Amino acid sequence: MIIGVPKEIKPSENRVGVKPAGVLEFTKRGHEVYVQSQAGWGSGFFDEDYIESGAKILPTIEDVYSKAEMIVKVKEPIEPEYDLITEGQLVFTYFHFASSEPLTHAMIKSGAVCLAYETVELADGSLPLLVPMSEVAGRMSIQAGAHYLEKPRGGKGILLGGVPGVQPAKVMILGGGVVGTHAAKMAAGMGADVTILDVNLNRLRQLEDIMPPNVRTLHSNALTIRELLPSFDLIIGAVLIHGAKAPKLITRDMLKDMQRGTVLVDVAVDQGGCIETCTPTTHDNPTFVIDDVLHYCVANMPGAVPYTSTSALTNATLPYALQLANKGWKQACIDNEALKLGLNVVNGKVVYKGVSEAFDLPYTEVDDIL
Ligand SMILES: NC(=O)c1ccc[n+]([C@@H]2O[C@H](COP(=O)([O-])OP(=O)(O)OC[C@H]3O[C@@H](n4cnc5c(N)ncnc54)[C@H](O)[C@@H]3O)[C@@H](O)[C@H]2O)c1
Repeated sequence: MIIGVPKEIKPSENRVGVKPAGVLEFTKRGHEVYVQSQAGWGSGFFDEDYIESGAKILPTIEDVYSKAEMIVKVKEPIEPEYDLITEGQLVFTYFHFASSEPLTHAMIKSGAVCLAYETVELADGSLPLLVPMSEVAGRMSIQAGAHYLEKPRGGKGILLGGVPGVQPAKVMILGGGVVGTHAAKMAAGMGADVTILDVNLNRLRQLEDIMPPNVRTLHSNALTIRELLPSFDLIIGAVLIHGAKAPKLITRDMLKDMQRGTVLVDVAVDQGGCIETCTPTTHDNPTFVIDDVLHYCVANMPGAVPYTSTSALTNATLPYALQLANKGWKQACIDNEALKLGLNVVNGKVVYKGVSEAFDLPYTEVDDIL
């Protein structure tokens, strides 16, 4: 198969869909890989690295799209890319269709086969191509929180781990899933006093078993959160209810009970946020202050650490991309149920229920097109 790896053109996006190590996996199986010049630059991979792994470098994004049978990238296509995608072309990337009607219509019109990372789903309901980014965001949330707790950044002026004879910072983590677990590990490793709240008791039992002694678990409910909030220095929002907007666990009126310089990091902001006052921010302007409480609500946190994020993402996507290249998308999806669930829009038809419901579009059963 001919595989194309374009350079991401979404602002501030430095990740790339395939690393040189991934190119080698394709080329040794007889596939051809075309990489746009400087596509990997933002993640620390240079054209020479790709050439060494057997890729051919093309100068423009148009060249890559016109040559490839399968495009492997990171972010959803944005407007300038819409017309580059051709009928029957396989596009394997994050799409997040339900949040963009123009993208959905453009992909229907293109006639392409759109296989979305975010809906590839294993039998246990887990989302293997979303997990790596949650791991990155969870760990980053503590890094960001520690930074903004410093006085010159607007925080309370407290060191996360404290020092001998001085108490460490108190960190509350709302949601003990992938983001919450990785946040807890980081915060605990830095010596903070950590509390994880979740509604899932089994999850809390598992966390209690695996976490160090400076992490405790609590059942999440409105009263507990309201009572505890004023004594915490850093609060991480990491809840998710699959397929729904995040519940607002911290409401506007609770801010006045918090101490000046408390830091809120709402990682769940991409699903609407679990803190009422959080609205999405960017890496260029990540924070704002309401009622003396500092809010950090960057919707694409992993974008700031492309060296790590590209590797984490491609470690997870490559095995699926190889199946698609080796068997063709139809056979690969017939053989692999998880991959089949990634199909969203195929040859002008919407085959993912959530997308058809989001925009009231006709729905075609995925098995009817296989
Ligand atoms: N901002 C970013 O850059 C970024 C990056 C990655 C993920 N995310 C987002 O982070 C959020 C968390 O993702 P995840 O992978 O950890 O999800 P997950 O499904 O692994 O974990 C979510 C947890 O929230 C818990 N939960 C649900 N309702 C709750 C409540 N009322 N109180 C406490 N806990 C509750 C669930 O039981 C679950 O354990 C998602 O919204 C995800 O999209 C954001």
